Amino acid sequence: MSDTTFTPRVFSGIQPSGNLHLGNYLGALKRFVDWQAKDMETIYCMVDLHAITVWQDPKDLQKSTRELCAGFIAAGLDPEKSILINQSQVPEHAQLAWIFNCVARMGWMQRMTQWKDKAGKNAQNASLGLFAYPALMAADILVYHATHVPVGEDQKQHLELARDIAAKFNHDYGVDFFPLTEPVIEGAGTRVMSLRDGTKKMSKSDVSDASRINLTDDADTIAKKIRKAKTDPDALPSEAEGLEERPEARNLVNIYAAMNSQSVDQVLADVGGKQFSEFKPMLAELSVEKMSPITTEMTRLMQNQDEIDKILTRGSERARAITAPILRQTYEIVGMVPPAEI
Ligand code: AMP
Ligand code: TRP
Repeated sequence: MSDTTFTPRVFSGIQPSGNLHLGNYLGALKRFVDWQAKDMETIYCMVDLHAITVWQDPKDLQKSTRELCAGFIAAGLDPEKSILINQSQVPEHAQLAWIFNCVARMGWMQRMTQWKDKAGKNAQNASLGLFAYPALMAADILVYHATHVPVGEDQKQHLELARDIAAKFNHDYGVDFFPLTEPVIEGAGTRVMSLRDGTKKMSKSDVSDASRINLTDDADTIAKKIRKAKTDPDALPSEAEGLEERPEARNLVNIYAAMNSQSVDQVLADVGGKQFSEFKPMLAELSVEKMSPITTEMTRLMQNQDEIDKILTRGSERARAITAPILRQTYEIVGMVPPAEI
């Protein structure tokens, strides 16, 4: 394969399927903002087509999509700098996904742990869309020729599959057209765990609301959830090795580090030796300081729905200037007779 170089371009997405939580913020959103600050094109997407792979109430979906857009902006994404889009408004995502459905193999999809977790024992009754989910995700990324994809740890396997799809497409058609995208999974916030069980991922589907901090929680609720978070009786260690076998302690230190844009070592240098009775209030204060302004701004933005809708319309126009030519070339490579205009 030749060594085509692709212009550095960042893409990532979040599903508008309910409350954003601290895991989404530290594992994704906050890092989206960091990437925006670099001298690269950044595109961030509300992936509603992914959300409907499991049932979504239509009214809730609309509200969650706008809320997610408000969350993006409140967290620091600037619609002038980053392209903010709603996936279904950029039809090339779904169009390329179909091509990728024909490139990806059933066996690859069957190995996806998210598919196995979400479909569970009832796979025969899961939607076909849920099975094809990773091919759409590959299309999201590759329809921009994106080179960098910041995500949380749980998306690693899907990104590897996106590389496999790109490689197979390039190989089958004898081209060097799609980049092999780099997953960017770095920092202390890429795997935020439940506050009630340090071995389980913080997730919007956990039945216990106390297990997560929602972006819509007020300051008192945040502080209370941290105060009640599960811990162990020992003091904090001074070095990261001391956190092994202590999942709850490790999680709280990770959260502190990610929130404060520090490394775990830097945090432990400051708090090593402290009891949780002292550390928890520090963490609560930091969390409220960082998250409350986002919550307030999100609520303010949600009052102006027209503005949000305009931002998304503008985002999709900018996005399609990139995606339409890439899809058109893909169709040509595959051998479709090109229409005058896609
Ligand atoms: P989702 O809500 O599943 O669309 O996830 C959106 C983004 O948040 C993805 O990049 C996920 O990897 C990330 N994410 C979700 N849960 C967590 C978590 N507990 N810790 C870190 N990142 C997470
Ligand atoms: N599957 C991702 C998640 O649930 C969301 C997503 C969809 C995504 N398309 C993407 C993330 C493309 C990164 C790039 O978290």
